[in-house]
Amino acid sequence: MTISSIVSSLCAITPDRLVTNNELANIVDTSDAWIKERTGIEQRYFCSDLETSSTLATRAAKLAIEKANIDANDIDLIVCATSTPDRTFPATATLIQEALGIPVCIAFDIQAVCSGFVYGFGVVDAMIKAGQAKNALLIGVDSFSRIMDWADRTTCVLFGDGAGAAVIRASDEQNKGILANILRADGRYNSILNVSSGASLGSKVGKLHMEGQAVFRHAVTNISEAIVLCCEKAGVNINEIDWFVPHQANKRILDGVAKKLKIPEEKVIITVDIHGNTSAASVALAFDHAQKEGKIKKGDLVLFEAMGGGLTWGATLVRL
Ligand code: COA
Repeated sequence: MTISSIVSSLCAITPDRLVTNNELANIVDTSDAWIKERTGIEQRYFCSDLETSSTLATRAAKLAIEKANIDANDIDLIVCATSTPDRTFPATATLIQEALGIPVCIAFDIQAVCSGFVYGFGVVDAMIKAGQAKNALLIGVDSFSRIMDWADRTTCVLFGDGAGAAVIRASDEQNKGILANILRADGRYNSILNVSSGASLGSKVGKLHMEGQAVFRHAVTNISEAIVLCCEKAGVNINEIDWFVPHQANKRILDGVAKKLKIPEEKVIITVDIHGNTSAASVALAFDHAQKEGKIKKGDLVLFEAMGGGLTWGATLVRL
């Protein structure tokens, strides 16, 4: 009997093209000093002309499948969280399915912007526990370089591109895998973080728009609440958590949440300096980095959290 969804592997990649703050200062009126001081960001990676969300995602998925030591043929569910799909349809999940040669299975996209990976944990966990899948591939991918407004210095310095993928399997082990998941959205705030157009509004892709200070005001409160609720749901004391893997939007938000919940800073994974905000890929990239540094290990209790356009937000607690 399936009683848990085990995260067998979680890997992430960025495109190769590294873009420094100084490079952006050639495009808009900004400086390395301002970006570092107000956000903590030092660099980010952008897709080349040949790369797309599906090609990035396929690279990350191959790593996750290899690390989980399973056959791609055994995957029976692909959930891809993205706000920058290759095409309006079909779902990017199906493009990844084809690229990986995965036979007929369930494959679809979800759209929760920067909360996409955390929402994806919830969707995959529910489908596994409902008996719909045994070996799921969860992907978070975004290529925001394609929707940036290059005339808006308040947003174009914040984002980067990347992809993350997890293999999540059904198991009968107790107290392991995804222990709790809290998901929230409040559509009243859709106008403070959005893309200006889309298929049904006029067929243009549109450009990213954000009222940074308004988003910032919601971030610390919403994220902190989600963390507390997630711990309550799992019956876990916040002090027992080994690692906090937050969405990497702004170092000041991460510090604000840690201060509010009295989380020791050495438990918080921070990679916003090297990746910028990579939206749905962000928590996966942070996790992957910490894993490679030898910080996060099997058996650890890890809390993922995020907030993004919608507004959407949430938290997931995982025993690795
Ligand atoms: N370079 C230089 N100056 C800039 C700038 C840039 N890239 N962007 C904005 N400024 C200027 C502003 O024009 C303003 O100038 P003024 O005082 O002359 O009007 C000044 O810097 C301060 O701007 P402000 O918007 O108050 O900065 P801030 O400290 O709020 O930082 C953000 C801006 C966007 C970094 C911050 O609000 C933020 O991170 N918001 C949340 C983003 C987020 O969480 N996103 C996650 C959702 S996924």
